[in-house]
Amino acid sequence: MRTLQDLGDLADRRVLVRVDFNVPLDAEGAVADETRIRETLPTLRELLRRGAALVLVSHLGRPKNREPALSLAPVAVRLGELLGTKVAMAPAVVGAEVRELAEALTGGQLLLLENVRYEPGETKNDPGLAAELAALADVYVDDAFGAAHRAHASTVGAAELMPQRAAGLLLEREVRTLTELTESPARPLVAILGGAKVSDKIKVIERFLQVADTVLIGGAMAFPFLCAQGHEVGNSLCAADDVEHARALLELELKSPGRLVLPADLVAGDRFAADATTEEIDGTDVPDGLMGLDIGPRTVAEYTDIIGSAGTVFWNGPMGAFELAPFAAGTRAVADALAGADAVTVVGGGDSAAAVQLFGVAERMTHVSTGGGAALELIEGRSLPGVDVLA
Ligand code: 3PG
Repeated sequence: MRTLQDLGDLADRRVLVRVDFNVPLDAEGAVADETRIRETLPTLRELLRRGAALVLVSHLGRPKNREPALSLAPVAVRLGELLGTKVAMAPAVVGAEVRELAEALTGGQLLLLENVRYEPGETKNDPGLAAELAALADVYVDDAFGAAHRAHASTVGAAELMPQRAAGLLLEREVRTLTELTESPARPLVAILGGAKVSDKIKVIERFLQVADTVLIGGAMAFPFLCAQGHEVGNSLCAADDVEHARALLELELKSPGRLVLPADLVAGDRFAADATTEEIDGTDVPDGLMGLDIGPRTVAEYTDIIGSAGTVFWNGPMGAFELAPFAAGTRAVADALAGADAVTVVGGGDSAAAVQLFGVAERMTHVSTGGGAALELIEGRSLPGVDVLA
């Protein structure tokens, strides 16, 4: 993979930088979580230091019809504040006016294009759109790890048209860390997988059963496994197809080097609500009328212990409904265990990244990935089109 070091002199050259500014916005339309913006700053600063002019391109959400609520304008404002310099906002993604703005840039200046998904050709990797994007600059840099699993015009098509292309510092670090995790981890390697559905994580669990020493399961995803073992799950989330997937994974475990560990006790509630009536269940049979919403204290103790003696820990997916105070303890305990572990700790994107932020321990992780789907696909062993194009 080519990196920033492979790019020659950048003084007064225009660089098209694909970033992942797909950030949550609050009700007022301001940036609610700026992690993804902050994580690109080292790359942007490095390119600016080398005298380049930057044309930034990103998607935001999944617009169907150029919804103004998905404009990147609030991101330009916040990025300008973080960099301490003005970030000009383009009125569109491509077109004559945008081209003029890009051509007028001089070294050290930045232009952020509008949400690239306002163009229907983006997700189709349309060659016309790719050519228009490529024409805006001389060099292509991709720092959008979160979008590297998408073969779109801004992640693949435009890159292919630009002879000089390289990975930014964030994308490089993400790929290195997540590849090392499965290929050469400090052992024992412990994977903690939670979240709602087994079907979303089948390939990841399969991979970890091959490469990890222990796979700890939590969250609603535990119930299909418990059901497959013959336990009562009450009203817990437990789709029939997930039970079949869980059964297949339990069989696979018998032939795999990795050990799969399920919760030994639970915290249940009468409904999914912050004021639910809660009950600790010493065991894993959930009575009728209750739903399992967190792992219990014995499971917390066991998982904490296993994490404490790990060489490497990967975590993706909460242990329970951590957004509801009565069911947050399991996820908080896992976050704290990672923070205290003398191990390489890697957190996948999405809810578990949100959890380490919420519990104030994000800074104590070795790496918090900015990619949800992209991180999981890389761990599954799949190649990412946005990375392959930088080879
Ligand atoms: C993400 O948030 O996972 C990335 O920005 C990719 O977004 P997408 O799933 O809409 O392609």
